[in-house]
Amino acid sequence: MEKNFKLETDTIWNFEERGNWSTHRGDYPGNWSPYVPKNIILRYSKEGELVLDQFVGSGTTLIEACLLNRRIIGCDINDRALSICSDRIKNLSKMDNVFLKKRDARNLYNIKDGSIDLICTHPPYANIIKYSKNLKEDISLLDIEEFYVAMKDVAKECYRVLKKEKYCSILMGDTRKRGFIIPLAFNVLNIFMNSGFKLKEIIIKQQHNCKSTEYWRDISIKRNFYLIAHEYLFVFKK
Ligand SMILES: C[S@@+](CC[C@H](N)C(=O)[O-])C[C@H]1O[C@@H](n2cnc3c(N)ncnc32)[C@H](O)[C@@H]1O
Repeated sequence: MEKNFKLETDTIWNFEERGNWSTHRGDYPGNWSPYVPKNIILRYSKEGELVLDQFVGSGTTLIEACLLNRRIIGCDINDRALSICSDRIKNLSKMDNVFLKKRDARNLYNIKDGSIDLICTHPPYANIIKYSKNLKEDISLLDIEEFYVAMKDVAKECYRVLKKEKYCSILMGDTRKRGFIIPLAFNVLNIFMNSGFKLKEIIIKQQHNCKSTEYWRDISIKRNFYLIAHEYLFVFKK
């Protein structure tokens, strides 16, 4: 178990050490620190409740949900991600508490309306990190306008499967093109609000250990822009 864990109490989160307890590993592209789902799961769900991560990647949310005695549905379109996940949770939970499915987050068929207690997820951010070469369901391959269209369907599915009065938390970052910021996160925030969600929290999460940071540092000074060093964790209520 991690040492000296304290629940976050304000809206700026900073985890310099990613966290490597249990079967957590920081080896999947764009993985998030286990401290993020741990905080969200503890604050917004109870033991035995059903958590969904429909962009499950290497299973960071799955692992935390198992350790915290929640039931969990993890989905991804990537076979490699699903196989990493099943490896990392096989000894952590009774398998009848874990449902791992190959699904497109825009179409969560077989997940019933109003059946999920908490959504805790971390989608790709348009075409920044690519998760496959040519999977047609992979939204990390889309350009920015197509990405917004995809996120409308994601938000609609989130709203459909979540129980009333329950929470949906998603992590999003921005990007920069030709020197100017593209506010992906604020646009996705609006998409979720337009799907019916109420905005409970905006949390700023500082970013660490980004592989590209050192490459961009000198260029950012020469070309006069700041390196993006934060992401947004939005918490919505249905
Ligand atoms: C940012 S990663 C998630 C990382 C995860 N939080 C972790 O710690 O490992 C996003 C994931 O979304 C998946 N993905 C891309 N398009 C998808 C879609 N349409 N439906 C479900 N998953 C998708 C990718 O394969 C990738 O594993």
